[in-house]
Amino acid sequence: MRVDVVTLFPDMIDAPLSESIVGRARNEGLLELGFSNPRDFAADRHGTVDDRPYGGGTGMVMMAEPVYRAIGKVKRKGTYVVLLTPKGVRFDQGLAVKLSAKKHLVLVCGHYEGIDERVSSSADLELSIGDYVLTGGEPAAVAVIDAVTRLLPGVLRKKDAAVNETFTDGLLEAPHYTRPGVWRGKKVPGVLLSGDHARIAAWRRRSAESLTGKRRPDLKKPPRAAGRKGF
Ligand code: ADE
Repeated sequence: MRVDVVTLFPDMIDAPLSESIVGRARNEGLLELGFSNPRDFAADRHGTVDDRPYGGGTGMVMMAEPVYRAIGKVKRKGTYVVLLTPKGVRFDQGLAVKLSAKKHLVLVCGHYEGIDERVSSSADLELSIGDYVLTGGEPAAVAVIDAVTRLLPGVLRKKDAAVNETFTDGLLEAPHYTRPGVWRGKKVPGVLLSGDHARIAAWRRRSAESLTGKRRPDLKKPPRAAGRKGF
């Protein structure tokens, strides 16, 4: 898969996505990550990409033309354009799965108060990673790329590592333990040492259901019918 990120701050994305599993996926060519900087398309020699909002108010707004041209530089036929914004549809594992099926994503990161609506409204999808406001879309782009990359074929080593996990079947995952069997007086649940795979699976299912009920009862409800363009 190829992902291009439209951002004023490519290092905020390149650096965290150079480590660990995503870094390896990039080295192996499973993920091609590129950047397009609106600053390169500024109309003046100062590289101005933002201006005051029409109608007044605090903060600055990213101008339509440099963002539009930065998208145009990387967009091709079949590209799926995603704008990161706290006003977007909430990102979840289901959306990660759907995005991981795309051949080419362009993620557009807003900064300041956001991007001129005339360009932002042309995205295929507006996406938020949660109900809080970040300084810009870059940390959100990192989260989305990370969640999508680990779903790409060949990225995770163990065949079922992306199957039996939190959210995949609408539940939080059961707890994990590793050696030693007793750590500072705390024991690993005996069933996990039993070698009885059916009992272990049943215990994990019960634990997952109980944890989900306590911590995230909303996950047990039917999924929201959000306005998701393009899916
Ligand atoms: N930009 C600022 N806050 C954001 C959020 N919560 N999700 C996506 N993009 C953002």
